[in-house]
Amino acid sequence: MGASPIAITILVDNQAGPGLTTEHGFSLWIEADGRHILFDTGQGPALPVNARTLGVDLRQTDMVVLSHGHYDHTGGIPHVLHVAPNAHVYCHPAVVQPRYSLRNGSPKPAHMPSESMAALDRLPEKHLRWTSETVMLSENIGLTGPIPRQTTFEDTGGAFFLDPEARHADPIEDDLALWIKTDQGLVVCVGCCHAGIINTLTHVRRLSGVAPIRAVIGGLHLLNADSRRLNHTLADMQTMPIETVIPCHCTGDRALDELEAVMGAKTRRSRSGATHHF
Ligand SMILES: [Fe+2]
Ligand SMILES: [Fe+2]
Repeated sequence: MGASPIAITILVDNQAGPGLTTEHGFSLWIEADGRHILFDTGQGPALPVNARTLGVDLRQTDMVVLSHGHYDHTGGIPHVLHVAPNAHVYCHPAVVQPRYSLRNGSPKPAHMPSESMAALDRLPEKHLRWTSETVMLSENIGLTGPIPRQTTFEDTGGAFFLDPEARHADPIEDDLALWIKTDQGLVVCVGCCHAGIINTLTHVRRLSGVAPIRAVIGGLHLLNADSRRLNHTLADMQTMPIETVIPCHCTGDRALDELEAVMGAKTRRSRSGATHHF
């Protein structure tokens, strides 16, 4: 198992640290197993500014991982591929599909910006790695690929559709999680967790063969969750050996409060600029 130190810096988040730019978006800078991994890229504007302020050199990026194709995770692709043209990009083929979210009854595009699609198109074929299945990035770092939806109480977390007429629900099958094996259990990184956090953690534990979860970090997308979902989610989380939860991005205020109430000190509030060491 991985014994080398792991550092995960929140580059972009809905909550910003001092002197940093905030936006509705998410991006992590992961240093582990001798790799520099950019996990999601935010909407675009905040990424280069925050990276510079925090002294993160995006030119060192070895791998870009896209948790899914939503605009608030994929807007920074042109910048990172411009400064790190040799980086390999890992994503599911569905990241580029058109998709919409319904807001007050009207459709809003939620897909990857066209500049990001163009930047992916320009990549040499060997630099684009599809995650239709589980992929190992190194000895201790894995990507789930699509996550089976098994719980009865979790859904994608919003009114997401593949068409602007809102006829075809978007299953967000591209949603994936990244795990890092450590001597004290798994560190699990999620983007929006559209597959549901319980489905995600169950799948990661099965794939990795490791039961203890040292930390979960990322957006849990519980902002629209009703009481039934929240209660089931929190109850199931309590049955799992979880040391720390670092909820970010689209977790939602109510879910954050309830996580804190139920999980106590295991919940660590965070924001961009924070580096978590494991
Ligand atoms: Fe998101
Ligand atoms: Fe999303």
